[in-house]
Amino acid sequence: MTDLSVKIGGVVFANPILTASGTFGSGEEFAGFVDLNKIGGIVTKAVSFAPRPGNPGPRIAETSCGILNSIGLANVGVERFVEEKLPFLRSLKTKVMVNIAGKTINEYAAVIKIIETAGGVDGYELNVSCPNVKEGGIAFGTDAETTARITKEARKVTDKCLIVKLTPNVTSIGQIALAAENAGADAISVINTLVGMAVDIHTKKPKLATITGGLSGPAVKPVALAKVFEVVNAVKIPVIGIGGIMNVDDVVEFLITGAAAVQIGTANFINPGITEKLVFELAKYCEKNQIQNINNLIGSINLNN
Ligand code: FUM
Repeated sequence: MTDLSVKIGGVVFANPILTASGTFGSGEEFAGFVDLNKIGGIVTKAVSFAPRPGNPGPRIAETSCGILNSIGLANVGVERFVEEKLPFLRSLKTKVMVNIAGKTINEYAAVIKIIETAGGVDGYELNVSCPNVKEGGIAFGTDAETTARITKEARKVTDKCLIVKLTPNVTSIGQIALAAENAGADAISVINTLVGMAVDIHTKKPKLATITGGLSGPAVKPVALAKVFEVVNAVKIPVIGIGGIMNVDDVVEFLITGAAAVQIGTANFINPGITEKLVFELAKYCEKNQIQNINNLIGSINLNN
């Protein structure tokens, strides 16, 4: 039996299969499809200080190799999150990371403070990379100094695992990752979505009400791998790979490239049971390839000619 466990920021995940924020609700929505205690961790949909209705529709458009979304960080706000979502999450054995969004630099820490008081989560993922909002999101995460300030403020209010989720829509993701690491991040997750657009040729209208949105799915996987590789080589803290993972071969590709864990996003919309299946298939892959410990696979990329 392979030891699939990975340690990130003091948290031991039973295996490296996590869910990606915004594709798995707060976990409960998927309880009928997945034994949630079998997967490594749940990363919730973003939680902000006040409730957010999100963007007007249409806010999802399918593309040939993925989807465009422009949800606009719709969520019930931190107070209702604590009352309505946290009790279920607390009942799970799997690790729970809450994705945090903010309109201002201080909002991230304010949201974390409230969840810290309530208790019952294992850590946080700072969302400085959503491309679908006017205030916050990608506007913060494209600037190394702002990313560092948000991380520093968050670090002041929690000792728990702090992940910073970065956007690929920048020139040097390595520099931004390094700024987050120096400000106290325990891990970096890459990538959030790529800015994209689609047009209906009959109506000549953009398919999303906000014109552009975030592209995810298999189309982005090679970009995601390149960004994971860049960040792995820029920082010392663990990197969590996200982007177009559809099957176990994709998981293995990210781990070999250096990701300590992966998050599964768009694939949940095609097969809501995919995360548990991937845990099973990763264990099978390791047994077949005589890998006793998953850490022996992580970062095992062969760069020799
Ligand atoms: O629009 C959204 O809610 C997307 C969020 C994200 O990409 O982080």
